[in-house]
Amino acid sequence: MRKGLILAGGLGTRFYPSTLGVSKHLFPIFDKPMIYYPLSTLMLAGIREIGIICDSKNVEIYKRLLGNGQSFGISIQYLLQKYPYGIPEALIIGRSFLEEKPCALILGDNIFYGSGFINLLENASKKLESCSIFLYKVLNSSNFGIVEVNSSNKIVSMKEKPSKLSGNLAITGLYFFDKDAPFLCENLKLSSRGELEIIDLLKKYNNKNLMNHTLLGRGFIWFDAGTPNSLIKASNLIESLQTRQGCIVGSPEEVALNKGWIPKSLFEKNIQKFKNSIYGKYLSNLLNEN
Ligand code: TTP
Repeated sequence: MRKGLILAGGLGTRFYPSTLGVSKHLFPIFDKPMIYYPLSTLMLAGIREIGIICDSKNVEIYKRLLGNGQSFGISIQYLLQKYPYGIPEALIIGRSFLEEKPCALILGDNIFYGSGFINLLENASKKLESCSIFLYKVLNSSNFGIVEVNSSNKIVSMKEKPSKLSGNLAITGLYFFDKDAPFLCENLKLSSRGELEIIDLLKKYNNKNLMNHTLLGRGFIWFDAGTPNSLIKASNLIESLQTRQGCIVGSPEEVALNKGWIPKSLFEKNIQKFKNSIYGKYLSNLLNEN
């Protein structure tokens, strides 16, 4: 069974001074904490064993918020990162948690939403002997890891935050890896910015022709809520989606109920404590519809 890792460490320097006190993954995106969104994404992919990578300063807060995952019908473990040495370090820290199983790794500030997403996740999850990534067309390539594909749809180059325009397909923060990923991270070297780079790991898969990629098309929403501006944009968008369509985006309680991972009685009990909030009201409506 595939396991999941959420990267909820990092310094969050682009949010200073706000992140001097608490991790950005606990900031609200409209009506719920940021970490609910990547958690729900992994759950939508059918993943029920999840490791959260975080620092010792925030771990107790994450525990208070999410506990051992029981209320979502999953199991959550907390894996400490002493210093943010980069995204691939999650696979090194998570090695014994992963027990040589394939995994999905998601960045804690990444929000995905779009029709057909569950199918895309399930297809990626079925591929046990390779790596799968999701691409998204962007205007400003210098902020992202960018890939170029040739006429046969094969990735021919991968660059981290290229200064010159070299394509507009950004690598989003959700990666499905086979069981070998932690071993492949062993000989990665720190880059000039002092981090292990995820792109170096992805290149290893691509060089071995073990890379699958899916373009998240028009109408699909992908946000990296890692700056004050993108956080407020993400918040506004979630507010619009939820109030116009009456749907909930990024609710682990909803995913757990829909997947049949928790009984209705536990769902009811869980949402009792939210009853005065917008989030609680959405969830109560859901219960009335079921
Ligand atoms: P970044 O946005 O690259 O880093 P950051 O969150 O520390 O932010 P800033 O650039 O403002 O200092 O990280 C992407 C995601 O991965 C984010 O959700 C934090 C997480 N992360 C870790 O958990 N551990 C790490 O070592 C790094 C580099 C990031």
